[in-house]
Amino acid sequence: MLNIAAFVSGRGSNLKSVYERVSKDKIKICAVISDNKECLAVEFASQKNIPVFFVSNKNKDGFIEYLELAGELKKIPVDLILLAGFLKKIPDEFVDEFENKIINIHPALLPSFGGKGMYGMNVHEAVFKSSAKISGATVHFVDKIYDNGKIIAQRAVDIGNVKNAIEIAESVLKVEHEILPFVVDKFADNKIRFENNRVVILE
Ligand code: GRF
Repeated sequence: MLNIAAFVSGRGSNLKSVYERVSKDKIKICAVISDNKECLAVEFASQKNIPVFFVSNKNKDGFIEYLELAGELKKIPVDLILLAGFLKKIPDEFVDEFENKIINIHPALLPSFGGKGMYGMNVHEAVFKSSAKISGATVHFVDKIYDNGKIIAQRAVDIGNVKNAIEIAESVLKVEHEILPFVVDKFADNKIRFENNRVVILE
């Protein structure tokens, strides 16, 4: 059983797709962490009786500090951490606690259209303006630089005839909901390897 914690900030559609598409014989979403008490993702977690933590590095009432959260997650113990639409940068000291155990879903084909400020519609607007004919989604390991960790999987979409950035967002979100559950399933089957400084997914 792969114990998972998911960091969320908003709608929660990626959390939902993992919850619904990966077998419950293989994974257990043991905790949902958010910086936003009012988001739909937290509402979903509560409906599914998944424990929710609110995290902040600003010592806010009702919020847990990152290193204290790390201790709580290690008690479970959490095997894999998903950033599923989490909008804050994970502090370096937290990354150090979970080396090669934190993955992120990014709504573009990294290394293009990534980095600080490249989230949500900012990404799709930049892709649209670039006149690119493909976009897609990337699942990658999280390190101490935005959108920089080793790429685990990518899936492209044809955006040759889109009329606006919203059409790109809709098209990319569909493949996000396929690729993140696919990668989580492969982690659950212990089929993720590092070879020649690349990530390999065994069949
Ligand atoms: C997704 O597009 C994801 O790629 C990005 O933020 C968005 C989150 O959507 N990181 P949701 O909260 O999972 O619906």
